[in-house]
Amino acid sequence: MGFRARVLMAAVVPVTVSAIVLVARGHVPLVGVVDALLVGLMVGAGMALSLVNGPLRSITRLRISTRRIALDSGGDAPPEKGGIDDLDQLAAWLSAVSRHVRRSLREAREREQETEAVFARMADGILLVDGDLRIRRLNPAAAEMLALTPGRALGYTVIEATMLHSLDGLFREAMLAGATRMRRLETIQPRRRLLHVLVTPLEGGVRGSGAVAVLQDLTEFDRVERVRRDFVTNVSHELRTPVTSIKVMVESLQRGAIKQKALREEFFRSIVEATDRLAQLVDDVLALARIEAGPGRLEWQPVALDQLVRETVAAQVPLAREYQVELTAETDEPLVVTGDPEGLRQAIANLITNGVKYNHPGGQVHIRLRRTEEEACLEVADTGIGIPPEHLSRIFERFYRVDRGRSRELGGTGLGLAIVKHVCEAHGGQVRVESVVGKGSTFQMTLPLTEAAPAPLSDRATDH
Ligand SMILES: Nc1ncnc2c1ncn2[C@@H]1O[C@H](COP(=O)(O)OP(=O)(O)O)[C@@H](O)[C@H]1O
Ligand SMILES: [Mg+2]
Repeated sequence: MGFRARVLMAAVVPVTVSAIVLVARGHVPLVGVVDALLVGLMVGAGMALSLVNGPLRSITRLRISTRRIALDSGGDAPPEKGGIDDLDQLAAWLSAVSRHVRRSLREAREREQETEAVFARMADGILLVDGDLRIRRLNPAAAEMLALTPGRALGYTVIEATMLHSLDGLFREAMLAGATRMRRLETIQPRRRLLHVLVTPLEGGVRGSGAVAVLQDLTEFDRVERVRRDFVTNVSHELRTPVTSIKVMVESLQRGAIKQKALREEFFRSIVEATDRLAQLVDDVLALARIEAGPGRLEWQPVALDQLVRETVAAQVPLAREYQVELTAETDEPLVVTGDPEGLRQAIANLITNGVKYNHPGGQVHIRLRRTEEEACLEVADTGIGIPPEHLSRIFERFYRVDRGRSRELGGTGLGLAIVKHVCEAHGGQVRVESVVGKGSTFQMTLPLTEAAPAPLSDRATDH
């Protein structure tokens, strides 16, 4: 190699290599480096030509400046020299290039930190794979959704890490088609989840073409949707029975039954009964909807619970008499909760109605309201038929009944306890049940009290 060529190499190669190293390390965005590279190449080439006849001192300085670019890791570039020597001028240019690269590097680092922060905090999962479907990156949300740890994911193929053929297949489809593909996938381990996954191929990504998947967890959304669908189906089903019987009886009356006194009375009685059931069902559905609509729809206010309990018990006396059940209540202490009086009244009434209806003639229902630490505790204890233990965890579900026939006969809708549970939860309280078949059941409702009862005036006199 001649002297000219050697000098050219000495000037151009370090600049080029440094730029490539920076890109390869991912420190510098490609565009910024291309700028630097071009300037570097031009400077290097021009410099090389001048150098052929230049003094050794300048060559050395140039080498140092060029090297600075290659090893650039911050620090000040040498001040620009105003010398008449070409090489001094070139050295100054190189310093400018160095500053440019350093700035690009800093900006790139800042951008990377921002991207990293977004990536780590996103609610959606992000999974990046290379052309061999090996996982290159995943954010915490994706790790959570797929039950992975980075150690058990990075470097593994999608199928090795997740064992999900559906996910692997979706990546392959998208990469083969060179277009976005989306699908709902179900995972089973460690628990069932429904994920919505969108895979987009990345041309020129890591190792040629890779792909990125965006995952959304639809499990809760799906559960709520299903509950809503089941509810609509159940309500329609419950409505159909009384509506059908009303229709049949009205038609029979039309066809002549109205002329026979006994039949007419029987049909009218049944129509009234079916209409009552319809009305009760509509009332209960509306009550549930009102509670579920949240605090905005409820009349939040201080409620004297002891008074509300006494009023509700009094309203149930006729029913208790009808079922020959004795109703007793203990509400000594005044207790105030912040809540929705209508919802609370309904919840208490539902518990008392159940105690009366799922009872025997001569049985008892005892209601007791007391304070326990910071809570109001309402107990409704009956001496009724009791609830078999295997049903206890489900009786608060909508439309769940231990004995469907008996509940219907008693005019039940299967929504009473669901309303009780929702009311309690909306008030920050809870409901529990204990029951022994053949002996009776005790339902216990707890509600947080508004505040500790104010201290007596004499105590407060000295309190400033
Ligand atoms: N006090 C009770 N004693 C025995 N069984 C009860 C009692 N309360 C509720 N149950 C059972 O729980 C089911 C659900 O109650 P609820 O939601 O009030 O609906 P229903 O309209 O059937 O009364 C009832 O059908 C009944 O089987
Ligand atoms: Mg009931």
